[in-house]
Amino acid sequence: MAIAEETKAELAEIAARYPRARSGIVPMLHLVQSVEGYVSQEGMQAVAGVLDLTVAEVAAVATFYTMFKMRPVGEHHVAVCVNPQCGILGGDRIWEVLSDELGVGNGGTTDDGKVTLERIECQAACTNAPVMTADWEFLDNMTVERARDIVSRLRAGDPVQSTRGPLIRSFKATARSLSGIEDDGLADQGGNNATDEMLAGLRVAQARGMVSPDGRSSNRSDSESGRVK
Ligand code: FES
Repeated sequence: MAIAEETKAELAEIAARYPRARSGIVPMLHLVQSVEGYVSQEGMQAVAGVLDLTVAEVAAVATFYTMFKMRPVGEHHVAVCVNPQCGILGGDRIWEVLSDELGVGNGGTTDDGKVTLERIECQAACTNAPVMTADWEFLDNMTVERARDIVSRLRAGDPVQSTRGPLIRSFKATARSLSGIEDDGLADQGGNNATDEMLAGLRVAQARGMVSPDGRSSNRSDSESGRVK
């Protein structure tokens, strides 16, 4: 599908935010991904045109990062972390059950086009393992039953709230937010949601008066570190 002039203008707007325009390539790829639900050949051509790069140079970036998809993704992208911490605590079982129920393997999309299922690597969220994401929003401390319920609600179009932030919207909507072209009012959704598990290390360091090698104290308050529960 041809990239619309409006999208090309937004690509140029993103590129203009950077002292070196090509530094905008990642958010620009998110923007083209938001148009068709993947990074299409036409999308890469549009990015290359704005940045005066070859399509091969754009493709080298697009194929490096796993958040960029080279095939169409369903309305929702549901991912299950199967790295050891999550896998051992239930992620492996969650993956098996969802894969069976949806009838798709890794990267597969359901026949109704609603869900693309993927196995993913560690999301640096192990304190709340096992972890899933829906359209890249976190779903913490999953169980098989909660995972099944969430996927069923997404397929039915019922609202699903991320455990750390906003309502789940769609893969395309998240891609548009990640492009930075607009924040969609998401920045303040979800409030402050640092959990006790996330802050445990900081609190131990504070209790022991630990300092970093550059001399910075760990004894800042939680509010100073921007992580008030
Ligand atoms: S292993 Fe799943 S978030 Fe780290």
